[in-house]
This record gives sequence, structure tokens and C-alpha cells, in this order.
Amino acid sequence: MTNTDYQSDTIKDVTPEPVDAPRIVVLISGNGSNLQALIDAQSHDRLGGGEIVAVISNVADAYGLKRAHDAGIDAVALPHREYDSREAYDGALIKVIERHEPDLIVLAGFMRILTPRFVQRFLGRMLNIHPSLLPDYQGLHTHARALADGVASHGCSVHFVTEELDGGPVVLQAELQVSADETVETLQEKVRAREHLLYPIAVQWFLEGRLQFTPEGAKMDGHLLPDHGMRLSHADAAEELDEELDEASQD
Ligand code: GRF
Repeated sequence: MTNTDYQSDTIKDVTPEPVDAPRIVVLISGNGSNLQALIDAQSHDRLGGGEIVAVISNVADAYGLKRAHDAGIDAVALPHREYDSREAYDGALIKVIERHEPDLIVLAGFMRILTPRFVQRFLGRMLNIHPSLLPDYQGLHTHARALADGVASHGCSVHFVTEELDGGPVVLQAELQVSADETVETLQEKVRAREHLLYPIAVQWFLEGRLQFTPEGAKMDGHLLPDHGMRLSHADAAEELDEELDEASQD
């Protein structure tokens, strides 16, 4: 042993052990614009140090798979049509996911009802984003239903996934004031922009250990969140997104 084998006693000379980045697997079925927001956040070092290690789609020609491939991420097509039952598909999906040893599973437009076995396997480390202010408008066609009801406000929610469809504890919401001339398309565009804002933040909080799923509900920094989670107001979201604020929404 030579002198140089001894560890330095000054902190400056200590080379830190490389720490493995937390691993994220994203499940998609389509366009993958939320996936893109997560990829962009990761490339700007705004994803809690996490790394998207795989993107899995139940639809073989989902555009999101191209986005993953272009970003150098393992892109896996696992078409549900090749399986006889929901249980068989979810069993195969569990195997593919576990091969990637994820710390977090992110559902980003994954249009499948999940079996209880699947949910239980990843309970507490699986997030979803939904285009409504949950618990309002669970399920599909949220924008058309909200417009038909003449609601004044709408938005999107990030929540932990439980066995209840769109029913797990809400972490974060962004609110949107519905204007008089709103259409399904304009609503979808504005809500989608808010989704892209929220999802990377929620993922970052989870990977930093700030956000937790507990039997009582979602906790942030050890505090139980209200039923609607944390909520970004219309004005704050609009400011973040450089949207013009009309008079009504400044109230
Ligand atoms: C989003 O509206 C999300 O809320 C819902 O599915 C859609 C996915 O869009 N769960 P994209 O594929 O991320 O563009």
C-alpha cells in the first residue's frame, strides 16, 4: 500500500459514489404529449434527478413510442389484442415493467382499465393524470361533459392510482376558468397545456421523496393533502403558460 491509497481527509478530495438515478417507466396509448413534457423536463434537469428508462404502449403505432425512440428511451409495444384476457395482459405488463426495475410508474394517457393485481403490485408508486378537477368527471369525454353542464371552472388532476378508476388520492390540480365561447377543442388545448405544466412537477416531488401515498391519502412533506390535492389557480397557471388573462379570470 502506498501513501496515495489512503483516503483524503479533506472533503474537497472525496469523489462521491455515483448514485443511481431513480427509474421511471411511462405507460401510454397514443400521442404522448405528456410523455414529451416529462422527457423535456428530464433533459432540463427538472425531473427530480429521475430517468425515464422505458415507455410501454398497448397500441403498437402510438406516436408516443416514436417520441421515446427519438429521445433514446427504450420504447416497447405490448399490444393488448394479443392477450386473451385483461388478467393475462396485465400479467405480461407487470413482467415487462419489472424488468426495468422502476421506482415510479407514470400513466400518461394509458387507456386501459387496470386489474386489481396490477394496481396492488405498484400501489403507492403509480401516478396518473386526468383531464378534470377530480372527483368531478371521472372517466371519458370530460371536456364535453363539463361544457354540457355549463361549468365555470374545469382543469386537470394528478393522482395516485388505486383500484377505483380515476379515484385515487389527488396530488395536484390546475384550474381553468371556462370562457363563454369555449369549445371542446379550446378546452382540451388549455387543459393539455396545464397537464404538461403539472405532471413533471408531481413526478419531481415524488422522486424527491416529498410526495407520499399513505392509507389516509396523499401526503406532501409529511402533511396530509386536502381531497383536491394542491391546486394551481387559473391566474397562476395562465401566468406560467404566458396565456392572456381576460377580465373575468383576474377576479
Ligand atoms: C391526457 O388528456 C390525459 O389527461 C389523459 O389522456 C390524455 C393523454 O394525452 N389521461 P397525451 O397522449 O399525453 O397527449
